[in-house]
Amino acid sequence: MNKKYFDANKELWDEFAKIHYETESESYSVKSFLEGQSTLKSYELREMGNVKGKSLLHLQCHFGLDTLSWAREGAIVTGIDISSEGIRLAKLLAKRAKLEAQFIESNLYDSPKVLFKKFDIVYTSIGVLCWLNDLKEWGAIISHFLKPGGFFYIAEIHPFSMVFDNETKTAIVQANTKAKFASAVSGEKMAQGLRYEYITKDEAVVEKPLEKGRVRILEIGSEIDSVENIWGISKED
Ligand SMILES: C[S@@+](CC[C@H](N)C(=O)[O-])C[C@H]1O[C@@H](n2cnc3c(N)ncnc32)[C@H](O)[C@@H]1O
Repeated sequence: MNKKYFDANKELWDEFAKIHYETESESYSVKSFLEGQSTLKSYELREMGNVKGKSLLHLQCHFGLDTLSWAREGAIVTGIDISSEGIRLAKLLAKRAKLEAQFIESNLYDSPKVLFKKFDIVYTSIGVLCWLNDLKEWGAIISHFLKPGGFFYIAEIHPFSMVFDNETKTAIVQANTKAKFASAVSGEKMAQGLRYEYITKDEAVVEKPLEKGRVRILEIGSEIDSVENIWGISKED
């Protein structure tokens, strides 16, 4: 019954994975990661403690930046994600960074059927819960994968904070058929649109077809003073 929703999410994340991998941004920078920078937050490092030699399962690992950052901290890492493109890029990134990791393409809800190990740590972070339809089952899966004495760690944000945004101005966006979406951010203020119009304001993004290239921001409201402030999308794209 949920297949069509999971398929739609997978399709979206296949597109996002490619864009996030290829486009340098504050949230996703492959370049800085390859130069040795960790993507982990200081509170995560502090709260998780020493992970050296511990087995760690990263649920919804995207293209593996955080997973591989944990590998750099000494953990023995496994990442799973529903996105085939995310997993392909995670494997590529591991190779480029010369780090050991196992990456598995799987819907989280099917993961016990494809992964038969138990872990010291199950980890997941930022932007994960909103994609899941059954949190009771999610909890059971986490418990299934934990060794006795192991622990689960989650760092998450809540989209409720976005209801206070009454300042984001219109962004005019061009997109081709492969990437019919765009997102623009001014600080923490986000406007997302095109085919994911349920996310926020109708007027936030105006679509214009583009023959070549992926996504181009043409004009942004005065709250966003330069294209460098746009998350995940650069002017050249
Ligand atoms: C916001 S991203 C997580 C990003 C991660 N915190 C990072 O910064 O790299 C959400 C991830 O959840 C994955 N996802 C969504 N639904 C899923 C499901 N049912 N099973 C497994 N992964 C799923 C997406 O493919 C995407 O990679």
